[in-house]
Amino acid sequence: MQQEIQKYPASWRILHWVMAVMVLTLIPIGLWMASRAEADIWGDLTDTLYSWHKAIGFSVLLLMILRILVKIRMKSPPYPDHLPRQLQIAAKSLHFVMYIFLVVTPLFGWAGVTAYPALVTLGGYHLPAMPFVPEDKELANLLFNIHGWLAITLAVLIVGHIGAAFRHMLRKDGIVRRMV
Ligand code: HEM
Repeated sequence: MQQEIQKYPASWRILHWVMAVMVLTLIPIGLWMASRAEADIWGDLTDTLYSWHKAIGFSVLLLMILRILVKIRMKSPPYPDHLPRQLQIAAKSLHFVMYIFLVVTPLFGWAGVTAYPALVTLGGYHLPAMPFVPEDKELANLLFNIHGWLAITLAVLIVGHIGAAFRHMLRKDGIVRRMV
């Protein structure tokens, strides 16, 4: 008899999908706006892209803090017994690394806009400045550079994550249903 699949709580599944949409929006917006800046194309569209990127990116950071706090207290539903032990360890390791990138990437973006400084976001609202980060354009450019590389690495991890999810879907082993 097949073991019954235990799902994550509904609130956790919603948080997962909301954040997935946010991060999958942030990456193309980030690449688009950075390429416009590099080509020295300024104006309303570039400003709007930057504003949305900063607002969504900062929200991801706040949601990640919430997510980690909940995760520490929450007991994740166990994997079904038929999932090989090595695969369980590989999945947990990839998730752990993604958590780190989902915190560190927005932190570098926030540090960059603090150093630049370019804290204005949607509706003229200002993001708080990151404590202890001085105003320094050269430092800002270094921080943006690191932010960009972290984001690209995160994108690669996400491709791996989606690939693994597809593999489970094709195998119909019930793993994807835990998060749907
Ligand atoms: C998970 C969250 C985030 C992701 C995945 C992300 C992704 C990206 C990507 C892909 C780029 C383009 C990099 C390049 O082509 O050089 C970028 C650039 C940028 N991001 Fe983010 N970002 C995130 C959070 C943030 C946050 C929180 C801020 C600021 C509050 C921010 C501010 C910026 C800025 C200002 C740039 C342009 C840098 C430049 O012009 O060189 N990002 N981001």
